[in-house]
Amino acid sequence: MPATRFMTLHRHILEGEKMHPEATGELSALLSQLGLAAKVISLEVNKAGLVDIIGFTGDSNVHGEQVKKLDIFAHEILIKAMDHGGHFCVMASEEEEDIIHIPKKHKIGKYVLLFDPLDGSSNIDANVSIGTIFTIYKRITPDGEPGTLKDCLQEGYRQVAAGYVIYGSSTMLVYTAGHGVYGFTLDPAFGEFLLSHDNIKIPANGRIYSLNEGNYLYWPQGLKNYIKHLQSNLYNGKPFQARYIGSMVADIHRTLLYGGIFIYPSDRRNEFGKLRLMYECNPMAFIVEAAGGRATNGNQRILDLKPESLHQRTPIYIGSPEDVLLVEKFLHENKSAE
Ligand code: AHG
Ligand code: MN
Ligand code: MN
Repeated sequence: MPATRFMTLHRHILEGEKMHPEATGELSALLSQLGLAAKVISLEVNKAGLVDIIGFTGDSNVHGEQVKKLDIFAHEILIKAMDHGGHFCVMASEEEEDIIHIPKKHKIGKYVLLFDPLDGSSNIDANVSIGTIFTIYKRITPDGEPGTLKDCLQEGYRQVAAGYVIYGSSTMLVYTAGHGVYGFTLDPAFGEFLLSHDNIKIPANGRIYSLNEGNYLYWPQGLKNYIKHLQSNLYNGKPFQARYIGSMVADIHRTLLYGGIFIYPSDRRNEFGKLRLMYECNPMAFIVEAAGGRATNGNQRILDLKPESLHQRTPIYIGSPEDVLLVEKFLHENKSAE
């Protein structure tokens, strides 16, 4: 699909649905609604720094409104934007322990929405890129009734669509409905997401590795050997470069565009690492695989993992296929050394 100047998110999704009859007009409606929520969150994120400058008390602002942590603000905006369109039977958020039911007054739909409303929140005060991550499934319990935890705990390969919004130097929405990955940049002049990255494909290999090296002492031996290998082997005369932003959305977005590997491993202190399977690793794995990449937990494909609970964590090795395959080789060779 040619990237034209005015290929808006809404038009792109509609045209995408013409190519894939199994998708219904409903998917375009709910993805467009997510785009609206992203615009509202982007506005708030972009003035977050002002909260201190213009003297809000931090508890309640000059209008007497409760000034919310940005995570909670984004969480509430997404629920408000998505709970009344009749698209969903249930939702779940990183910021809510239990599943989120659709209010009785609204029509119950056939989709499920899981999201991390604000990813990378520790970076907000430093004005570093942060994001929102979302994923959509079809319900597996009978239509018409409220959705259940069972609808939320589906393997990642069953995702219908997934995406993220990155609030950085510009606000971008990247999504896939399983057929190609598309990036839209928000044009603040008229508040539309315009197609800027048509059919993103991740390079087969890269020259960047991305993980928190502060945890080196606790890593599996195979990972230590892999990183030392990247640092000591010259590729076209140069070692790999290390880049780590600390926002998964920003680190994965760079990996998707430039190639390389992002890692959040298990370590001696956290057997399953830090990142959540359902609303961080599964959506990112769905997107990266749709762009030709690879995502595993070191042994198994992320999208095949059987979820046990809503907020469960998993180690993740994700990015260019050749780079992920190489780290898996190092991990397997040193399995006995653990
Ligand atoms: P969140 O802000 O939603 O809790 O996510 C933060 C995550 C993820 O964005 C990032 O990759 C990771 O935390 C960074 O963790 P470390 O600071 O431990 O490296
Ligand atoms: Mn997160
Ligand atoms: Mn979060």
